[in-house]
Amino acid sequence: MRIFDSHAHYDDEAFDADRAFLLEQDLPQKGVWRVINCGANIDSSRQSVQLAHTYGYIYAAVGVHPEDAAHLPDDWAEQIRGLAKDPKVVAIGEIGLDYHYEDACPRQQQKDVFIRQLQLAQEMGLPVIIHDREAHGDTMELLRRFRPRGVMHCFSGSAQMAKELVSLGMYVGLGGVVTFKNARHSREVAAIVPADRLLTETDAPYMAPVPYRGKRNDSSLIPFSAAEIGVCRGISEEEVLKMGCRNACTLFGLSYEEE
Ligand code: NI
Repeated sequence: MRIFDSHAHYDDEAFDADRAFLLEQDLPQKGVWRVINCGANIDSSRQSVQLAHTYGYIYAAVGVHPEDAAHLPDDWAEQIRGLAKDPKVVAIGEIGLDYHYEDACPRQQQKDVFIRQLQLAQEMGLPVIIHDREAHGDTMELLRRFRPRGVMHCFSGSAQMAKELVSLGMYVGLGGVVTFKNARHSREVAAIVPADRLLTETDAPYMAPVPYRGKRNDSSLIPFSAAEIGVCRGISEEEVLKMGCRNACTLFGLSYEEE
């Protein structure tokens, strides 16, 4: 069994106490095969690259998250571009729009920073990892306009929206939320996303699946989400995990061989 976690934050302070143990031994022993560690600002993007250099199976995404888009240095985009040139950086992310915490950063500023990074990804030929919270309309508008390759992570929209994403060429990332009791939407989406467009992910340390909901999440818990996705699609947990590995390798340009 191999697990591909297409979205995690192991630079987060929630892992300060046992990061080395987790990343060196625990996760690989539990079948975690590859991880994309996502940046949320310049600091955490730099830490993502560092983690990717320390652990062979970790790859990095670099970018500025909408919540961190308010107070940026003038040369922020150049800094992100510089980091993105590293050979272990496989995506620009996580980037997008978040209207839930609107106080953190005004909408127009979020859009400007998002657009700049969509352009950067295009210039560098990298896929994007997108965060969209309560901003479906504006996010879709920008995706229609820029047509990036990439994934909508922790997808929270309707089945209809998932279909449009797929028609735009995007992938759909599903994590712990599919196991939540009230996640009817998420399970509908899990059932209809084409087999070549679904990615497995955690958003660790957040979004732990049932029965660990509310606790610290890590990549080894992905089988709980995969099992639920399997139930929705009428396939096994193993098949979902395999799908997650194959699709992520295709999107992020990594090699994939059958086990
Ligand atoms: Ni995230």
